[in-house]
Amino acid sequence: MGETPGVPATTPAPRVGSRPGIKDVARLAGVSVGTVSNVLNRPHAVSDVTQARVQSAIDALGFVRNESARALRTGTSRAIGLVVIDAANPFFADVARGVEDAVQDAGGVVLLGNSAGSPLRERRYLELFEENRVRGVLIAPSGEDPPDLRGLADLGIPVVFLDRYPDGEPYSSVTVDDHTGGRLAAQHLLDAGHQHVAFVGGPSSFRQVRDRRAGVEAAVSEAGSSDGGGPELLVVSTPGLTTDAGRMAAEELVSLAGAMRPTGVVAANDLVAIGLLQGLLRHGVRVPEDVALVGYDDIEFAASAAVPLTSVRQPREELGRTGASLLYEQLTAQETGAPVAPRQVQFRPDLVVRRSSCAAAPP
Ligand code: RIB
Repeated sequence: MGETPGVPATTPAPRVGSRPGIKDVARLAGVSVGTVSNVLNRPHAVSDVTQARVQSAIDALGFVRNESARALRTGTSRAIGLVVIDAANPFFADVARGVEDAVQDAGGVVLLGNSAGSPLRERRYLELFEENRVRGVLIAPSGEDPPDLRGLADLGIPVVFLDRYPDGEPYSSVTVDDHTGGRLAAQHLLDAGHQHVAFVGGPSSFRQVRDRRAGVEAAVSEAGSSDGGGPELLVVSTPGLTTDAGRMAAEELVSLAGAMRPTGVVAANDLVAIGLLQGLLRHGVRVPEDVALVGYDDIEFAASAAVPLTSVRQPREELGRTGASLLYEQLTAQETGAPVAPRQVQFRPDLVVRRSSCAAAPP
């Protein structure tokens, strides 16, 4: 590695018995402690040459910043806390990527927590974020009741809701219109002539599930005739929104006698749809010829499923980026003293048609 101007070839040992600190870095680089702090926190305020000298000293000493100490000393951290319901669900992985891109662009870092749908685990992450004085929190809440955010509010740490809007709560949120999404999915099947439709998904404590189901119910109801005829809807509730739940629901559907079995199915999300697809195919049920299938989210695996999955597309990374943007809007308002009212941003989903609901569709 070539010499860096201003950094001596030999590295003076840091203070004995301790990890190198910011003073050791300043001494080795021949700059003030304030300059090192600027390189770490406001690099745009430092020349490239000085940044290189300080970074070489950091590398030579193996200096690691103590973010927790800095956060407690200054009252704020660079970190943004993010809690999702299911880190194994590609939907949340894509949302988290959008959050990460926006936070990195703002010079921050993301601390990711997975509540696994547990309010207790969610509470532990919120307490961790409080203890570490994160700058802000983005949360896809695990339960029906909004989490207790008083601790964060008392510390002036803003919170933005992802994927769910907090009824009547003074928080910004970014969501997708799931009622329209459910309606789009059902209307697609009704337009194809399906008269016996099913909605598969749960638990109904998830607002997303309730809204999607309500959209399906609205489309089916409006397709009915005044004399009570028209399409019928079967609702199959599941304990969760996973592929296992989808496989279990497939067992229930194939156990129905031919005339009772729905010919069109809307799944509450793509993981349930992929489990349904596996279960139906395993029983020799043809998709879409015997049962047309529509998922929700349009995750990456939807297009590559055994039968490419028709799905209601959610703008996942855009959800994450917008959530982070709403959070920084609140932070800027705090820093400038110009309060900004919480904002609710809602995206409209669209339908991506593939072979699982329409044999003639492109894969
Ligand atoms: O929480 C599970 C589901 O809700 C995801 O698949 C996504 O649809 C979200 O809105």
